[in-house]
Amino acid sequence: MKQLERSLKHIPVLQDEVIRLLNVKKDELYVDCTIGLGGHSKFIIENGGRVIGIDCDSEALELAKEALSEYKDKMKFKQGNFKDIDRILEESDIKKVSGFLYDLGTSSYQLETKERGFSFMLDGPLDMRMDRRQAKTASQIVNREPFNRLYKIIGEYGEEPRATQIARRIISNRPIQTTSKLTSIITKVYKGKRGKIHPATKTFQALRIAVNDELSNLKDSLDKILPYLEKGGRVVVISFHSLEDRIVKEKFKRWENEGIFNILTKKPITPSNYEIKQNPRARSAKLRAGEKGGNL
Ligand SMILES: C[S@@+](CC[C@H](N)C(=O)[O-])C[C@H]1O[C@@H](n2cnc3c(N)ncnc32)[C@H](O)[C@@H]1O
Repeated sequence: MKQLERSLKHIPVLQDEVIRLLNVKKDELYVDCTIGLGGHSKFIIENGGRVIGIDCDSEALELAKEALSEYKDKMKFKQGNFKDIDRILEESDIKKVSGFLYDLGTSSYQLETKERGFSFMLDGPLDMRMDRRQAKTASQIVNREPFNRLYKIIGEYGEEPRATQIARRIISNRPIQTTSKLTSIITKVYKGKRGKIHPATKTFQALRIAVNDELSNLKDSLDKILPYLEKGGRVVVISFHSLEDRIVKEKFKRWENEGIFNILTKKPITPSNYEIKQNPRARSAKLRAGEKGGNL
């Protein structure tokens, strides 16, 4: 299937909840910090909003541009990292917006493109960069990091209980250039046993987080957005693992304690069984949302 057809078929996670919690209003401006294939942005526009769509992946941005070509007058696209949200908005002369949306992690396009090296199901180079302009790749981490650093990455970012054994096996099997070689090394640590998830899931997640500095980017971005949000404006974040979710939960709590934010989701919203059946990627999604209050 062609990429564009795929992106048009792509189902955005928790789309109705995103529109409701962003409180999308006619002609108001929303920042989609992770435009990906443009699924959520399309819904924001169809509900009357305008969007500035950001992605650090130039290929995703091109697909989103094509998929949303009929909405050109309602959209602006920017390649960049959401950790630089202040610079990105200032370059576009944007002072205030009505909402920020983050749908974190990888897009189905990235996962399904074997050359990008995100998937343990497809054989490809150990790359995993969302922004291909950056130097650091998964191969550099796998082939160059010392044991102490490697096992910490796999243990902390992947919450992988067998991080020590996996790091040792990686080191004794270097050089490792492909996703399939890495997957077979991890599978051997598990002696072919499989639980609910594939044995390589956690290590691949850990490497992806490390390659893309995902946790620090999220923290840096959240630290910058409130001055650009209208009073009453909304922040909606969909995360896919507990480390990201914890960052969002703690940041929202701190803002609420400072009296500048009202949390709208006391507990995170998760997809229904029906949605998970239609879109397995939604399985581990958690959505948190809040509204700017106070006098910031
Ligand atoms: C899950 S996808 C978004 C899917 C999108 N909501 C849709 O409906 O099509 C996440 C996207 O965020 C991008 N991304 C991840 N981290 C980023 C960052 N720090 N800055 C900018 N984009 C980022 C990825 O490249 C990917 O395209």
